[in-house]
Formats: sequence, C-alpha cells, structure tokens
Amino acid sequence: MRVPAIAANWKMFKTTHEALAYVRELGSLVKDVSGVEIIIAPPFTALATAAEAARNTAVGIAGQNMSAEKEGAFTGEISAAMLKDAGATYVILGHSERRKLYGETDASINRKVHAALAAELIPIVCVGETLEEREGGQMATVLDRQIKDGLDGLTGDQVGGLIIAYEPVWAIGTGRNATPEQADEAHRHIRTRLRQWFGAAAADACRIQYGGSVKPDNITGLIALPDVDGALVGGAGLQVTSFFEIIRGAASAAR
Ligand code: PGA
Repeated sequence: MRVPAIAANWKMFKTTHEALAYVRELGSLVKDVSGVEIIIAPPFTALATAAEAARNTAVGIAGQNMSAEKEGAFTGEISAAMLKDAGATYVILGHSERRKLYGETDASINRKVHAALAAELIPIVCVGETLEEREGGQMATVLDRQIKDGLDGLTGDQVGGLIIAYEPVWAIGTGRNATPEQADEAHRHIRTRLRQWFGAAAADACRIQYGGSVKPDNITGLIALPDVDGALVGGAGLQVTSFFEIIRGAASAAR
C-alpha cells in the first residue's frame, strides 16, 4: 500500500560531470525495476544537470536543504521555487548534519516544511536521536519533540504526503546500522504518534524511511519490517552499483 522510497543523499560530493554519468547509468539500470520510488539528492550545483538526465526515467530528484524564505536578500540560500525550477520534486529537511553543524532547530525545520509544501515539493523530514540520548533512555522523547515541533501546523493530508526519515545519529556514516529490532521499535513509535496527532489516514499513508549505514547487505532485513517504507542512503548511495543493489533489495521485498 505504501510504495517504499529509496533515496541517495550525495551530501557534498560529485561535480556536474560525475552526476551526469551516475544518473545516466542509474536511469538505465532501473528501467525494469518496479514497486519502489527512486530518489537522488545531488548538491545544488548538480541539481539541474541530474534532473535533466533523469527526465523520462524512474529517478526523482531531491534538494538536500532549502531556505524557508520565498526570496530576498539571503546570500547563499536557495528557495523552494528555485529547487522546483531546477527539477527537484523532493527536498531533504532537518538532516542531522544540518541540525548539528548549522544550528537548525525543530522550529526552523518546521518553517521549511511549510515552505516546501507551499511550493509543492515533497519534504523528507529527518528525525533521530544521538547516542547519548539513546543511552539516556531519551529516544522516544526526542522523536516526539522532533515530530511534534517539526510537523506543527500541518494537516493530516499534508503529513500523509510527506516522507519521514528516521536516522539515528549514531548510525550515520559510522558503519553501525540500527538492528532490525531497533529500527522496528522506532518506526512503530513514530507511526503511533502520527496516528495520535494527525489521524489514521495520515499515519497509514506517510512513508517512514530508515537511514544510517544502509548497505546492500542490510537493506532486505530493514525493508521487511512493516513500518519501514524505504531508506535514506548516504555513503552507499555514492556508487551507482551499490545504490542499485539497495534498490534491487528493496524492490524484491516490496510489499
Ligand atoms: P550513511 O548516511 O548511509 O552514510 O550512514 C545516511 C545519511 O546521512 O542520510
């Protein structure tokens, strides 16, 4: 019922030239894949090139971040309309690197989520606890705050249409992915809260990706979980072959 979404977050990697080669290859590799939504998030400079190469393929394009402002004197910022104009249909918001390194808060992320939806971009809203928070028994409290404040003011329909990425911070780029049991617990918790706060239809429709050291050899165990609706992939999404293996693993297990 929920189509799994597999996204590669390239972070600050790849020139336009590299992006073009990757997307061309991926586009032809995924020609016969069905049952999964495929997304790549290039850096801003490669967005239009990647989108152009992805045209008429099953590959969708995401921004990695954006401004909450429409336009104006905001040096270095990119608006939702600019992302759309460059060919994006999704935007990653509140990635833990943005929270940690650039001071993004649930309130600032919430403004971006509203701005993205107003521009008809699909937000991929990242949530997740740090190791200290997990070890301190704070996982549920942190997720609750990030969801409540990050999605504040949205309608059930809007929540049903977006993607949440559960990315435990201790699993990102560490090679230490959450076990299926840990992912299952967090994803079920998130879905329960969505049901309480935004209604059953929103909770049933909203896709919850897992992110954090997803690799070709752990995707099948994760995607088999009833509340895991895809993956947000960092390191293993940089090589087209390993990203394709992850897509294939998810497609073969697609419900
Ligand atoms: P990783 O990154 O797959 O390299 O752990 C995930 C992410 O940051 O979204």
